[in-house]
Amino acid sequence: MEFPVVRPRRLRASEAMRRLVRETDLLPRDFVYPLFVTNGVNIKNPIVSMPDIYQMSTDNILKEGEECLKLGIPAVILFGIPAYKDEKGSSGYDPEEAVQKAVAALKKEYPELIVITDVCLCEYTSHGHCGLVADGEVQNDPTLGLLAKAALSHARAGADIVAPSDMMDGRVRAIRSTLDEHGFSHLPVLSYAAKYASAFYGPFREAAGSAPQFGDRRSYQMDPGNVREALKEIEQDLAEGADMVMVKPALAYLDVIRTVKESTNVPVAAYNVSGEYAMVKAAAQKGWVDERKIALEMLTGIKRAGADFILSYFAKQAVKWLKEGNI
Ligand code: PBG
Repeated sequence: MEFPVVRPRRLRASEAMRRLVRETDLLPRDFVYPLFVTNGVNIKNPIVSMPDIYQMSTDNILKEGEECLKLGIPAVILFGIPAYKDEKGSSGYDPEEAVQKAVAALKKEYPELIVITDVCLCEYTSHGHCGLVADGEVQNDPTLGLLAKAALSHARAGADIVAPSDMMDGRVRAIRSTLDEHGFSHLPVLSYAAKYASAFYGPFREAAGSAPQFGDRRSYQMDPGNVREALKEIEQDLAEGADMVMVKPALAYLDVIRTVKESTNVPVAAYNVSGEYAMVKAAAQKGWVDERKIALEMLTGIKRAGADFILSYFAKQAVKWLKEGNI
């Protein structure tokens, strides 16, 4: 059957008709909202390359948690801006540090909010790498115990999910076994399994103060040309005990999201990262694009590619926009 019998435009004639046949709809529960946590009180520092996103102390983080719940956003993910940094990333597993305190405060105030913590060393090390450094190289095996310690400190503070983003080999196993040994066998691990060495993380490194002081992350994060390798990473992480996997970044890796979705049976998260956010914000500030339409279209694309949930700096705004109607 073909034209003139077949006329796809019949089903596009009105918003009601389009709505009836729409295959992918964004919902508030699709989102996780990232938050940058500092020590101190009453702090709300703007991040220049990420308009509307701030480094915040726990008092302000609590307001964000409340707003997310009101909007129907089920979860937040916390990144720490610690008071001190050293070679071993000690502030990453210090129970008195910003993330640990914010987790406890959020869970006390809003038990129904899911609090995810990013487990990595780069925000906490003086050299800005995601693992221990010796002889100018990032050391894999000696890093694992420190990551496990960080995850355990988050668990003790009350985190609902821990999310390792360091890309060391074997870290899921190290974290899983440490959690299990200490009575946290119920705590899920969301692995940043397919995390690429990406220039799209630039603004985040300003936000978290985590830019590497020498070299880059290409010896541990994935090469952008690879997709079969993503499946290998995911298979490994699932074998080590990951409950959910993430693809990161999202927009330049939609094919990876789709491929991972089709080859696994666990929830797949996608991270709509800082550079993806900053580009839209910058173009919108210049009046070159319609921010609302562009952002919702991108997020719809990420979901259509197969993401079960999306970590996005647009999360709150997207839910507010959706309440006003669809794109
Ligand atoms: C920590 C981490 C990074 C991001 C999330 N966790 C930065 C990096 O790997 O350099 C990036 C998130 C974003 O760009 O929004 N390793």
